[in-house]
Amino acid sequence: MEQDRYLIDSYLDWVAGEGIPVHESFAFDMRNVETAPWARMGEGVSGAFTHLHGRGDFANAYVLDLAPGAQTRPQRHLFEEVGYVLSGQGSTVLTHPDGRTHTFEWQAGSLFALPLNATYQHFNVSGQSPARVGVVTNLPLVLNVFHNEGFVFDNDYVFPERFGPDEFFRGEGRALELQPGRHQWVTNFVADLPGFELKAWDARGIGSSNIKFVMADGTMHCHMSELAVGSYKKGHRHGPDFHIFPTTGEGYSLFWYEGDKEFTRVDWSQGSMYAPADQQFHQHFNLSPQPSRYLAVAMGSIKYPVTTDKKTLFGNQVDRDVKRGGRQIEYRDENPLIREMFESELKARGLEVDPRLKRQWAES
Ligand SMILES: [Fe+2]
Repeated sequence: MEQDRYLIDSYLDWVAGEGIPVHESFAFDMRNVETAPWARMGEGVSGAFTHLHGRGDFANAYVLDLAPGAQTRPQRHLFEEVGYVLSGQGSTVLTHPDGRTHTFEWQAGSLFALPLNATYQHFNVSGQSPARVGVVTNLPLVLNVFHNEGFVFDNDYVFPERFGPDEFFRGEGRALELQPGRHQWVTNFVADLPGFELKAWDARGIGSSNIKFVMADGTMHCHMSELAVGSYKKGHRHGPDFHIFPTTGEGYSLFWYEGDKEFTRVDWSQGSMYAPADQQFHQHFNLSPQPSRYLAVAMGSIKYPVTTDKKTLFGNQVDRDVKRGGRQIEYRDENPLIREMFESELKARGLEVDPRLKRQWAES
């Protein structure tokens, strides 16, 4: 009997009814995820849910495929959605509450956010090639709180303040210059993540740089980080749901819990997606002869952090030593195995450790 059920996950109930594959893993190659036709989205559109073990309670991810020339049916929903274009090219048309429409054109490497409850359609503008988008949303949070699909998917309420100025849909934005690691770019659309200018953030590792994106005035967080050649980010930990999409280069990440003797390792390149689990230490290593970049998408933004974890992380803990109440392992406290592995991996590719990093090793 429906009324006798308990421990209900309304989000997973909804997922089961969508009729598309549900994949679960610690990491995915988003280029090879199997999808199936998704009736909700319309003819020529397929999808699959890609649930990461580290997705937490509030966020999910899915793959959206648009066949050549296909378009989605108009969609509208009371949850936030961020899209990272994995391949192909297309456009999205959004209807503003005042009746005007906004169009932005995307390609592999683009990032966009859909303003809350905006009506939108995605179009594959190519007649020859499919397009694939990796999407992260806060639907699990919203659907589990309201547990009413009609309220979430058929709701007339409008949020004009989420749209921002028109130029935010043209890839323009507003820079908030604050301090290293807190620099922000406020917009709704970034046409080319691999080419976006980042800001130095040395406290996170030799040659590190970063930008935080505030998208569609939302609670979904995005940031982009760069790892220098022959270098890595310092190990750190935080809460779950940071969905990481490498956008440029290749490398690997290590994962472990305090006291572990061994690491879990994920090798990544453009098209991968993975998420560190709750309070799991992790560290990202660049093995490319060029800088490597990744996009991270999470629930709880630097503007609207929602959770205590995000509030403290984005506040002052992210680049503070774990020994001082922060989240980061400083060079002097690194496990020596981490350095040995990195140096030998670089050697195997004919690359060397950044001399500035070598000096840090020698001093600690
Ligand atoms: Fe992290």
